[in-house]
Amino acid sequence: MQNKNILVTGAAGFIGAHLVLRLLRDGFNVTGVDNLNRYYDVNLKRARLRRIERQACGNWLFKRGNIADKKFLGRVFGDCKPSIVVNLAAQAGVRHSIFNPDDYLESNIVGFFNVLENCRDFNVNHLIYASSSSIFGDTPNETDKPLNFYAATKKSNELMAHSYSSLFRIPATGLRFFTVYGAFGRPDMFYFKCANTLNERRFVYLYNEGNCRRDFTYIADVVEGLRRVIDKPPTGATPHKVYNLGCGKPVSVRNFAEILTDELIQANVLPALVDWSFFFKSAPMQSGDAFTTCADTADFQRDFNFTPKTPLRLGLRAFAKWFFKYTKEA
Ligand code: NAD
Ligand code: UGA
Repeated sequence: MQNKNILVTGAAGFIGAHLVLRLLRDGFNVTGVDNLNRYYDVNLKRARLRRIERQACGNWLFKRGNIADKKFLGRVFGDCKPSIVVNLAAQAGVRHSIFNPDDYLESNIVGFFNVLENCRDFNVNHLIYASSSSIFGDTPNETDKPLNFYAATKKSNELMAHSYSSLFRIPATGLRFFTVYGAFGRPDMFYFKCANTLNERRFVYLYNEGNCRRDFTYIADVVEGLRRVIDKPPTGATPHKVYNLGCGKPVSVRNFAEILTDELIQANVLPALVDWSFFFKSAPMQSGDAFTTCADTADFQRDFNFTPKTPLRLGLRAFAKWFFKYTKEA
């Protein structure tokens, strides 16, 4: 490795902030970029940044800005001179993409293009970028039939990275995350939305009657996976690889919600003497949603000797304990 300078985009985001904490602990000089957009509560993004600032000892720099702004990003690369770039900045969320495709075009296509261009200009040793389980749609082994525009942009990122890697020999690794959950998570995602909704004694709607299955992956496992990948850039004529990073153990949303409710009770978020099943209502399948996601974990296990294993109950216990504290402090 040339230097320990690492650039993390989306650093105020859920996965980004957890990763930055780990990288600071591991002695990297981290520059974080984020535009702190208002897709969800920006106070949560600021709380993540405060947590990072508390842990950092001179090895952390934050730059607020948009990766779709080429001049801004060029200046950041010029100042940071990263040997490694982790691109997590993106417009995430499956259902939001149906009504707000522009957000995805800007951050996920234009923004990602700018990241690639800068990796080329600054001879970056390894680019790691976030893809998504959503690119599988309802076809387990195919990734060219996206069910929504978010998935289409993530598949495009894999193709764009491949072309830059082939043309300019930029070592790049794409990671397809599978429905990641945990403390300091995303309020737009089911687990967080469910916790908030039950906490306010409102109804939770289970799409497809709760029968969709997700390969829910705990945040600490995702950070561990990312950490292993960072140290091992791909080699060869076209140094580009894409991996699934999930458990390979899908669980129905209904079953997930039952465990979550249980853990919210144990964590004193919800009182025990209530029939919480009353608050769950069935709703139709949503357009753009996949029925099931399930990671084929073999390649990641082979190349990085790791497969996410945190049991759902333990991961949700950690989330529920954090949620209790977070809502008390708010
Ligand atoms: P997040 O929304 O919490 O984090 C993304 C961060 O990027 C946010 O803080 C946002 O403000 C920032 N951002 C968005 N557009 C930007 C732009 N144009 N310029 C600068 N900053 C910008 O989401 P997350 O869950 O942490 O996801 C991180 C990455 O992983 C994303 O690329 C997402 O698509 C991908 N992913 C997430 C999951 C999951 O389950 N959380 C699953 C698969 C893939
Ligand atoms: C999640 C993230 O939101 C995406 O950013 C990410 O790219 C994707 O994971 C991924 O794995 O690649 P999703 O699996 O749709 O997408 O995550 P949630 O929004 O948390 O939904 C999980 C499940 O709960 C879905 O089956 C959804 O239909 C269901 N759901 C969601 C409900 O039943 N009710 C709700 O109110 C919300």
